[in-house]
Amino acid sequence: MKVLVIGSGGREHALAWRLSQATRVSKIYVAPGNGGTATDSRFHGIDITDPVALREWAAKEKIALTVVGPEAPLAAGVVDEFRAHNMRIFGPTQAAAQLESSKAFSKAFMKRHKIPTADYEAFTDAAAAHAYIDAKGAPIVVKADGLAAGKGVVVAVTVAEAHEAVDFMLLDNKFGVSHNDGGARVVIEEFLQGEEASFIVMCDGKNVTALATSQDHKRLLDGDQGPNTGGMGAYSPAPVVTAEVHARAMREIILPTIRGMEKDGIPYTGFLYAGLMIDGKGQVKTLEFNCRMGDPETQPIMMRLKSDLFEVFWHATDGTLDTVDLEWDRRVALGVVMAAHGYPLAPRKGDRVDGIPAEAPDAVVFHAGTTLDAGALQTSGGRVLCVTVLADNVKLAQQRAYEVAARIRFDGAQYRKDIGFRALPGRDAGH
Ligand code: AMP
Ligand code: GLY
Repeated sequence: MKVLVIGSGGREHALAWRLSQATRVSKIYVAPGNGGTATDSRFHGIDITDPVALREWAAKEKIALTVVGPEAPLAAGVVDEFRAHNMRIFGPTQAAAQLESSKAFSKAFMKRHKIPTADYEAFTDAAAAHAYIDAKGAPIVVKADGLAAGKGVVVAVTVAEAHEAVDFMLLDNKFGVSHNDGGARVVIEEFLQGEEASFIVMCDGKNVTALATSQDHKRLLDGDQGPNTGGMGAYSPAPVVTAEVHARAMREIILPTIRGMEKDGIPYTGFLYAGLMIDGKGQVKTLEFNCRMGDPETQPIMMRLKSDLFEVFWHATDGTLDTVDLEWDRRVALGVVMAAHGYPLAPRKGDRVDGIPAEAPDAVVFHAGTTLDAGALQTSGGRVLCVTVLADNVKLAQQRAYEVAARIRFDGAQYRKDIGFRALPGRDAGH
């Protein structure tokens, strides 16, 4: 069977890599893929991004299954397009993808279905937003409504910062956020305290299967300092997600969300990623929903997955996920993102990348922002590579990952030296 993976990041490289080990898969296409998939004979790049053109190409090529990596094609309706032509695709419809593409939609959805999340108010009028901030005080969180590639959120420590964020988002639109119909809108919400985790499940419309737990590091610098990024590293499992927290997240967040979407006439299919905030008492709130897998969380999760991923997707697109029991490697997987000079504000492109070691059973370097230029590998985006390893514990995983990263060279490479520190034994997770 031929499969198609849509996307070009480390997440898509990791999904394609795991699919390449599936028994029934004969050929894997990646649209468009990156320098890593282009230099690996197991993958075939396709330079099409438009949903209709992709569907036409996939029909002609007799693609048996398509998997969507990023949010943009989902929000553009690629799943609706494939399904309208009876083609098998795993992901949410455009309407269901609003759980991610519109903060106002997802916050109203959570309120309506009593899913725990921060208190909030949505605004299109800057004066009303400013008045709300004055009434609530700081710390407070200001979010642009629309896809912003992780850059549309300001956690304001002072009231002045919150006011400035509102002006940025509503008046100047400095973040370049793609706003939803009706123009610029912000969501202002209560600041939540605790530890974050990525809770990712697969849904077939009714049945839900949780993936292994994970955590990422969103800040650029060691010690979770510096600006927010798409994610500088991740690991699985996440010790903060105890059995109790897991049960609670399923009972209070995931299942009510799937039931709520069904009830609202928008059944949810695809990966669903709940960003959790877990407080010192083990109470769980939803920070956000993503309608896709996390990047870089996918890379360590795929390293740990032992089940045949193609068969899992087959069940997930047949409505029979209830018959699937995912099997995981018991070891720790840890991924360190190597980013380009200037990331996240102004990543530089065109730096030559050398020294990537061959794949080993316990270490795979997944590509993201790389491209092939006249046979040479170059940087082409902010997050360039994700060095992903398996080891018996977090400490050994860190050692192994940093040993591999040290061999890779490109000008201006930046990466954190402390990925996984929250999962080290002895650290007080707060509960
Ligand atoms: P989001 O894109 O909504 O997940 O926000 C990005 C990041 O901002 C999250 O991963 C958190 O670190 C932080 N954040 C978002 N909302 C809140 C909140 N209500 N309280 C505290 N931190 C938040
Ligand atoms: N790593 C966070 C995300 O994929 O949204």
